[in-house]
Amino acid sequence: MAGNKSLKAAVRAKEDEFYTQLTDIEKEMRYYKKHFKDKVVFCNCDDPFESNFFKYFVLNFNRLGLKKLIATCYVSSPIANTQLSLFDITGTEEDKQNKAYKAVITKVYDKSGDGGIDMFDVAELFKSGENELTELDGDGDFRSAECLALLDESDVVVTNPPFSLFREYVSTLLEHNKHFIIIGSQNAITYKEFFPLLMQNKVWLGYGNGDMSFKVPEYFEPRETRFWVDDDGQKWRSLGNIAWFTNLDIRKRHEEMILVKRYDSSKYPNYDNYEAIEVSKTADIPCDFPGVMGVPITFMYKYNPEQFDIIGLVNGKDYLAGIKTTRNYKDFQETRQNGTKTGSGGGKINGNPVLKGKPKSGNYFVLNDEVVHSTYARIFIRNKHPEEVKK
Ligand SMILES: C[S@@+](CC[C@H](N)C(=O)[O-])C[C@H]1O[C@@H](n2cnc3c(N)ncnc32)[C@H](O)[C@@H]1O
Repeated sequence: MAGNKSLKAAVRAKEDEFYTQLTDIEKEMRYYKKHFKDKVVFCNCDDPFESNFFKYFVLNFNRLGLKKLIATCYVSSPIANTQLSLFDITGTEEDKQNKAYKAVITKVYDKSGDGGIDMFDVAELFKSGENELTELDGDGDFRSAECLALLDESDVVVTNPPFSLFREYVSTLLEHNKHFIIIGSQNAITYKEFFPLLMQNKVWLGYGNGDMSFKVPEYFEPRETRFWVDDDGQKWRSLGNIAWFTNLDIRKRHEEMILVKRYDSSKYPNYDNYEAIEVSKTADIPCDFPGVMGVPITFMYKYNPEQFDIIGLVNGKDYLAGIKTTRNYKDFQETRQNGTKTGSGGGKINGNPVLKGKPKSGNYFVLNDEVVHSTYARIFIRNKHPEEVKK
């Protein structure tokens, strides 16, 4: 990699170090139990010594009926190997930080005979050679040949992958025809590479979503919000828009949303530039509207492909809407709430769903006496079985 590029990659990698809590993993995994029986699970962004994904699967190995568990980590992981003593690996701290490991588990039992299975048993089973703990040849990059060979050997991939490589990560899993359960940002819903996968029902949303707290490395700088240090000196960050993504069948995906509202033209305005109505809250989707509706991206948490078709996404540009814009906004003037012009034209709302009138806050757009404003990103959907309209 050229100097500048590799530096950028290193900076990005440092910002990717958010470690998932065991409780968040447990809460999500309970919905997927049947998918693990006799399967090979691969955690491919997971330091076996520290990752709670590895810990969850190794400690539940027998309960889930796993065939095999594999975990690999990336060399630059800054907390990598801080618990190496448990696993009896020697070397200087620097050596340890520069190594990538592979753990392969095929058997878990109470090796120490103390009546329960814990990480000490796991360590003993490595030492006795009953499970395998070896150094990788390369750096543990999920795209490296040795990690891809392990990917091909696995059935289900479960992890929180590096945020900065999310698109590439997902496409790697799909190219290798893998099932997965992974954590990502809710914003991924609107990525132009990722949204088509949701629309084509190749990927969907898991159960947990919203706020999640993660341990972060010592080098993370303090911030005003969503950052704290606990009594043990451990730094934490929280993120408010976390989502689980999967391509495993889950019950939620077959549950129909109960729609209690009926269409009323005074409550559901038409966009000025698309043949669709605005539904600003998913819970307000009318049960009897047969046409196209624009809904917030959080609709994806409730999406059941037997109930709705997804037609497109409009997110500042018209790249995925199944219906075209019907107006050109370049002559509109962007205007502040106090009536002064910003100096910008309306070109930037071209492609956004646009409603007539002023918003309660924020800028709006004016042409002669006409006033319009744009909405947030919207997913365009259609009810597959709308109820009959009451006469
Ligand atoms: C968001 S953190 C999550 C870590 C762990 N999976 C967890 O949930 O606690 C993403 C991890 O991916 C690792 N990583 C970054 N780039 C990677 C790559 N190219 N291949 C594999 N792992 C990578 C980072 O070192 C980091 O530990």
